Parts: sequence; C-alpha cells; structure tokens
Amino acid sequence: MPRIVASAPERISAAPGVQTRRKWSEHFRTVRAETECRAAHLSAEDQIVQSMADASPATWHRAHTTWFFETFLLKPHAPGYREFDERFGFLFNSYYVAAGPRHARPERGLITRPNVEEVAAYRTHVDAAVARLLDSADKATLEKIVPIIEIGLHHEQQHQELMLTDILHAFAQNPTSPAYDPDWRFPAFERGGGYAKIPAGIRSIGFDGDGFCFDNEQPAHQVLLQEAIIARNLVTNREWLEFIADGGYSTHDLWLSDGWAKVEAEGWQAPGYWSNIDGVWHTQTLSGLKPVDPAAPVLHISYYEADAFARWTGKHLPTEAEWEVAARAGLLSDAFGVAWQWTRSAYLPYPGYRAMEGALGEYNGKFMINQMVLRGSSLATPEGHARVSYRNFFPPPARWQFSGLRLVDYR
Ligand SMILES: [Fe+2]
Repeated sequence: MPRIVASAPERISAAPGVQTRRKWSEHFRTVRAETECRAAHLSAEDQIVQSMADASPATWHRAHTTWFFETFLLKPHAPGYREFDERFGFLFNSYYVAAGPRHARPERGLITRPNVEEVAAYRTHVDAAVARLLDSADKATLEKIVPIIEIGLHHEQQHQELMLTDILHAFAQNPTSPAYDPDWRFPAFERGGGYAKIPAGIRSIGFDGDGFCFDNEQPAHQVLLQEAIIARNLVTNREWLEFIADGGYSTHDLWLSDGWAKVEAEGWQAPGYWSNIDGVWHTQTLSGLKPVDPAAPVLHISYYEADAFARWTGKHLPTEAEWEVAARAGLLSDAFGVAWQWTRSAYLPYPGYRAMEGALGEYNGKFMINQMVLRGSSLATPEGHARVSYRNFFPPPARWQFSGLRLVDYR
C-alpha cells in the first residue's frame, strides 16, 4: 500500500503523547481557519452561487471538507460521535462511491439550505469533535487517526484553492466584475528569460522523502531524459499578446484536433477571463477587472492553448519528469506560487502504483484517464501545500484554474 502519511507510524509511536496531540490540534485549527478566512471575503449570496458544473459554491467547499472529517475520521474512530445531520452525507459527498450516493455535482448551486450559518455550525460541531478525539485517543487510536487528519487537511487545502478559482469564475460572469478582495495583488514574479540545460541521463522522480505526499506521487522511480533546455521563467502575457497578434487563435494547424474544435465551439480568442475594452485587453483578477500586465505570467489557459502556443514558438511543453528534474536542480524561477504549469504528460500511474485501500483509494487513482499533469503551484495555493513531486491534473479544456506554462526545447 503506498505511503500517504507524513508521520510514519514508528515516529508517532515513539512520541504518542502530548506533543503529537498538540501538534495536530494546532495544525488542524490553522488549516480549518484558513478556509474560513478565505470565505470571509464572500457574502452569503456569493457563497451559494455555482457558475458552471466544474465549479462548486463556497459553502459546498466548506461543508464538503467538513464531511470528509466526519465520514473518514469521526464516524469510524470517535466513540459516541453524534452525526450533525444525517442528510449531509448525500449533499456533501463529492465522488466517493464507497461512501454512498450523492447529490449531482452540476446542481450544487441549488442547495440553498443548509444556509451559510448552518454550514458554519456544522464546521464548529466537527471541529469540536476532532479536538475531543485528539485529546482523548489512546496510543493505538492516535496512530490510526493522525494519517487521516493529515490527508483531510491536505484535502481541505486543495479545496481552499478551489474556493478562489470557483468564485473567480462566478465573478467573471458578472458584468460588474466584482473583486474577491480589493487589496489582492499579483504575486512577485521573475522577469527576464533564458534557458537552463537539463543534461541527458537517468534520474529519479516521485516522492521519496519524509513528510506527506499523495499516493499518486509514488513510487519514486527512474526516468530517462534526453538533453533539453528549459525556460527559467513562465511564459508572459506579452508573449501571449504576440501569439494573438500573429493569428494564433485562427491558425488551425497550430492546434490539436480537439483543441481546434474547442476554439471553434467556444469562440476562444484569448485566455480565459480576457476581454478587449476599447482596444485594451483586460482580465478578471481576484481584485476585479484589471488591464493585462504584459510582464506578468499568463494565466487561465487550457492545455490546448498551451500546446498551440508551444507549437507556434517552435518549442514544446516539458514532460512532468523534465519539470521535476529541473525544479529539483533549482533551474526554474517561479516554479511555485504563481501559475500551475501544464506539462505534456498524461496523468498516468507511476510504475508500480497502487491506490490506497478503502474509500480513500478513490482520491486519485480513478482519475488517471483523459487528464494532463500540471506541476508547481499557483498564487491561490495555500502556504505549505506545494511540493516538487506534486502532481495536479485537469482535463485539457480546463482554464478556470490559475494555469500557465513554461517551454522546453531540444537541440
Ligand atoms: Fe474533495
């Protein structure tokens, strides 16, 4: 069974007492509080809206992450735990078939009850029960529950990012272009350019250290790399404007067949959220509609667009192995914290991969089809969530994430 836990059981059992309980209680409170901090920018109405099937209401994210702890931690491991509301399992199960039937994803925005106050009460109820469990668990129970708390917190951090990407999509549909946070600013990024050499050779990728990883990052394994050069920096809006000006969106032979079909069906002429106002490109950001900054890394592009852009430049998207080897060697600027970077690697199991046993085995493995891997992290990724071996994945047309790219070439 692949390891998914940060704290190996032997290390927990070596220090099963006060320190372990305190560490996980504090970590639990910190991560749960970040979710509420992100929600605090939103009105009750903002928290109910679902602007498309792929996006979920903020109140659903807040309830679903709570359901995760209730279902996988409290009900099996907290003696005498009282379920907050037996109807919530149906409403807030996302895709866990083993956890029972669930409400249809595209209709999450129709769930106006429970309202935001009731969801807040649900969170408080579960938080208190987790705190009691951590306080009272015996050593054997503690060893069982810490890995579940840990994956639950990483899961919650993933939903914290989705809360921002999903509300940004909703606000982008609003003609008044609301700001999620008027004080939000684009993160610092590297300027300039240049390429770094990745020598040919056999390298190791995947997670092989201490600490947490998802099962899809294992097993660590060897890969054979060709000699390549990889862009130190992310592709910028300036370069994307050149692509647009050169007819990138109207030149069919730059595009994969599925990508061209999407361009025609959706009328894509620019990245997601871009609009041309009196000849000036603007984009919806977390602080509202802003002029596109030519120097900043491009965001909100699909895999199809990333692939077409790379073809237009005569270069390529990196494989996820090239990306990871380059990142481990310190060759990449803005590897983390600005834009998830599309790779040309399909989201597939690593050699020897086995999904976790039980319901949590549905977390990653069953999605290893029809999606592409993105590496790094974005401006919306919570502190402490990124890793060099992290494998994010989305279907090729998706562009509501903070997704960008960097290029690679072979000479
Ligand atoms: Fe989830």
